[in-house]
Amino acid sequence: MTDKSTQPRVLIFDTTLRDGEQSPGATMTHEEKLEIAGLLDEMGVDIIEAGFPIASEGDFAAVSEIARRSRNSTICGLARANYKDIDRCWEAVRHARSPRIHTFIGTSPLHRAIPNLDMDQMAERIHDTVTHARNLCDNVQWSPMDATRTEADYLCRVVEIAIKAGATTINIPDTVGYTYPFESAKIIRMLLERVPGADTITFATHCHNDLGMATANALAAVEAGARQIECTINGLGERAGNTALEEVVMAMKVRNDILPYSTGIDTTKIMHLSRRVSTVSGFPVQFNKAIVGKNAFLHESGIHQDGVLKNVETFEIMRPEDIGLTQKNIAMGKHSGRAALRAKLKELGYDLADNQLNDVFVRFKALADRKKEVYDDDILALVADEQTND
Ligand code: KIV
Ligand code: ZN
Repeated sequence: MTDKSTQPRVLIFDTTLRDGEQSPGATMTHEEKLEIAGLLDEMGVDIIEAGFPIASEGDFAAVSEIARRSRNSTICGLARANYKDIDRCWEAVRHARSPRIHTFIGTSPLHRAIPNLDMDQMAERIHDTVTHARNLCDNVQWSPMDATRTEADYLCRVVEIAIKAGATTINIPDTVGYTYPFESAKIIRMLLERVPGADTITFATHCHNDLGMATANALAAVEAGARQIECTINGLGERAGNTALEEVVMAMKVRNDILPYSTGIDTTKIMHLSRRVSTVSGFPVQFNKAIVGKNAFLHESGIHQDGVLKNVETFEIMRPEDIGLTQKNIAMGKHSGRAALRAKLKELGYDLADNQLNDVFVRFKALADRKKEVYDDDILALVADEQTND
């Protein structure tokens, strides 16, 4: 058994309340944001990105209050690359026990065209704004937005400028979810090799899920040397969402032989947070979503149920309790076998003789053919019938 307490740490940066809330229709109330921030803090998230203070009075108020209430987590706010945004962000986060300013600018050719800055002008803007942020706060994160579509030489150049200006974390966003895992790793490796001072700061990875690769890209970046993962609960986020916190944390826990890093996350709190974020954001979690989907730990087919009843590890790579789930892992339906029915009846308090079990099983199969899922009450009704007929 590996001793995870001695393993190097990967920091978990949760942006449910900033990038997640930016998802159309996911707006949360002030009270809901405070509740989610409290749960994230309790769960062991290292950094909570609480919002974008200049975006609205509401965002400013939420970030300030979350900062005031924070107990363990660093509280971070987002700011564009201008002094007004950065000052407003500092105003909000400075109440935290541990505040962070996160400032960003789009560095790819497409993004440079928007403020109409050439490469040199943008480099100067990065130097000035990161220096300004660092004069306010000693914990500054800088992001070259759309980093994965930025020319390699220019990316190295601006990252070096940000480090020299005082950034303590450099985040590499795959803003449009465009990257493959091997590319995600290659970019981090390149920055670590080519940028002077790269070994003095923390590299972060921030991935979007447009091609369904956000989790794989984040883990590939860690393998290459990133030590902070930016993610959201349930993968909430713009378009197809962000890297899901529960996926990267459980991947590093279950396959610690592949990525031998620890996180500070109490995984038993995952399910509760997932449900609360789903409720307050109004975004349901798909049934087959990894880790937190309704079906993620359910077995219906006879072969799987039989295997799980004999040895749970035959079809489960993690335990439901690890994420704070107490539900049973057997779903009764038309694919279920006699062993699962016997186990279910035992759980409901019935130990039927073989002939009775056979009768109930025949009627259970007939019912399961008509119904998608057979509930405990249905099974109890079948047993009651059986006992009346006897
Ligand atoms: O996806 C992105 O590029 C962002 C930045 C603001 C970090 O969310
Ligand atoms: Zn993002």
